[in-house]
This record gives sequence, C-alpha cells and structure tokens, in this order.
Amino acid sequence: MSEDTNPLKPEDLIGPMNTAYANFDREIERLPDISKSLEEGETHLLELRNLRIKYLGKKSELAIQKKLIRSIDRNRRGEAGSNIQTFEQTISQRIDDKERRLKNSIETTRLERESIDVTIPGRRPRPGHLHPITLMRQRIEDIFVSLGYAVEDDREIETDFYNFDALNIPEGHPARDPQDTFYTTEGFALRSQTSTVQIHAMQRRGAPVRMIAPGRVFRRDTPDPTHNPMFFQVEGLCVDRGITMGHLKGTLQEFVHRLFGPETRTRFRPSYFPFTEPSAEVDYSCFNCGGPGCRICKWSGWIELGGSGMVHPNVLRAAGVDPEVFTGFAFGLGIDRTCARIYELDDIRLLFENDVRFLEQFR
Ligand code: FA5
Repeated sequence: MSEDTNPLKPEDLIGPMNTAYANFDREIERLPDISKSLEEGETHLLELRNLRIKYLGKKSELAIQKKLIRSIDRNRRGEAGSNIQTFEQTISQRIDDKERRLKNSIETTRLERESIDVTIPGRRPRPGHLHPITLMRQRIEDIFVSLGYAVEDDREIETDFYNFDALNIPEGHPARDPQDTFYTTEGFALRSQTSTVQIHAMQRRGAPVRMIAPGRVFRRDTPDPTHNPMFFQVEGLCVDRGITMGHLKGTLQEFVHRLFGPETRTRFRPSYFPFTEPSAEVDYSCFNCGGPGCRICKWSGWIELGGSGMVHPNVLRAAGVDPEVFTGFAFGLGIDRTCARIYELDDIRLLFENDVRFLEQFR
C-alpha cells in the first residue's frame, strides 16, 4: 500500500491545539480558586466538570487531533503524539489544580459554618412553672382532700339536661338568662357552672357522696375586670343522711381558716339558686385588713367567695338520690376572682393574656 502523497506534519496540529488551549485558558481563568459560599463553590465545581468534558472529552479538539495522528508521516508520528500528550496533560493538570483548590475552599467554608464558638455564653434554660390559677386550684384541692373530699374531673361540654334541667332550671326559667352560654352546632352547651358535676357525681357514686370538682366554665359575659367569658370554679357537694346547713357553714368556715388564716370569718347572705334551697352567698372577712376596709376588699371588709345552699330535692331526684333519705349541701366558688384578690390583681383578664412577664411573678 502506498503512503499518502501529501501527509500531515506535526506542525499542522499545533495551530488548532494552540487555539483550543487559548480558549481553555480564558475559560478556566474566569473561575475563582476560592468560593464565598458553599452554593457558589458547588456551581464552580460543576463548571469545572463541564470544562473537562469540553476540552478532554470525546467531542473535544483533543479527540479530533488524536484521530489525525494516523494521517501524519509515519516517521514523525511520535513527535505529534508527544505534542498532543503534553497538551492533554497540561489541560488535565490545570483542571485538577483548580478543582483541588476549590474543594479545599469549600471544606473551609463548611467548617466555618459548622464550627461552634465554645466561648459564647450559653443560654440559660428557663424552666416552666404552674399558672397562678393552677396554683390556686391545687391549694383548694389540698384543703378539701384533707377534709375527706374526692376530686372529680368532668366534661366541659354538656347536654341541656345536665347544664339546666337536672339543676332545676327548666326551659323558659329566668335563671337560664344569667347562665347563658355557648353552644356547639350540634346543640351541646359549654357548661356554665361546675354544678353539672353534682349530677354526674351522684349518678356515678350514688349517696353518700363528698366531692369537689374544679374546672373551666363558660358564660356569655362581657369581659371586664371581674368577668371573663371563660373562668374557673370549684364545686363542692356533700350528701349524706342528716346533713344540715350547719355542716355547710362549718365546712366553708374551716376552708377559709386553712386558706387565709384562723382569724378569718365567714358571712352568709340569703340568696337564690334554683338548685339549692335555702341558698346563700358566702363572704369571708378581708385577709388584708381583717374588717375595717381597704383597697383589696373595696372598703367593705368582706370578699365574696361564691354561692352555696342545701341541695334542692328536685336535684337529688334528677340524679337518682332519694330526698326522703338523704340531704346535702353544695357550694360553687370562683377561682379566678379569689386568685385575683390573693395576688392583688386589679383585673382578672390579666390571668389569660399569656404575658410571660406577668406570669413569671408566680413562680
Ligand atoms: C354559680 O355559678 C353557682 N353554680 C354556685 C353554686 C353552687 C350555688 C352550688 C349553690 C350551690 P355564681 O353565678 O354566683 O354561682 O358564680 C359563682 C362564682 O363564680 C362567683 O362568685 C364568681 O366568683 C365566679 N364568676 C361568676 N361569673 C364570672 C365571670 N364571668 N368571670 C369570672 N368569675 C365569675
């Protein structure tokens, strides 16, 4: 076979390789050695990978030149091959160097981002604490448990039967108005007083029974310094043979002694509740001034504790207890207002504003 009459010379390949190298040089120089951020570093690494494909890959100028070696005079092919090899090694070397520097820079950025300055002062954990209403409720529970009362926890959503009818407040009774509450779309009532638990407790336990039921209640009351549409009460119920008003008075007297001190007096004012007969409002002598009057008792010497009375026979009957055999007393105290008096708060709404600066005072 005859050789090509006009074979290529190694010099013929140098021109295209120089042009390719100049282009490569411009492109690689545009890429920085260090990256300002991890994201920027990753982008430059990708660009470097593309440069490697463009200048050393299958469709590169280098690949074209390699194929041309066959067309070079046999005696000078070695020379052309070594030129191409130098070209390839130089490009490869420069890409490797840049890649190494970029990776180092990315690693440094990552370490800086993840490093922890152990000299920065730590954040002191702020342990939580109980809400003043909870603290108050616990004090009340402790007193009644020590007097032999069980603590009942019951539902906040009620039927009309438990919220009104069983408490001797039939439909159309005027006492429903001040106790008006919120209703679910299915017609259930959010209980307007803890007295509902009297019925549940007697149905569950029968008589005799002695229990208190602290919990949340709801009314359509407009918020003001002494009213909230949601507040806390504690119900008390004692049903047995021969229970009288004297037991009620003695029990609440003992309660205020233990809560405010042995010098505290109670006062019972005639009142009306449909579910007790007779009924009374209970006051206690001001724990601050003891009687003459001060800012806390609004200059009256007395502070209202809640409502009370002898359980109405209709209520005993509605709960399945025979009023011919059993009698009982009941009371319902407002926890929020008592709490406000004890902590000298002018406004019970403060208790539910969730202002940490206020609540932290009650640790
Ligand atoms: C009752 O709710 C009766 N169930 C109490 C009772 C129980 C009487 C058992 C007889 C036998 P009264 O509506 O007065 O009663 O409420 C009792 C206490 O709840 C009040 O003394 C007051 O401290 C508190 N209270 C009433 N309405 C609000 C309100 N909107 N916001 C905050 N506290 C309230």
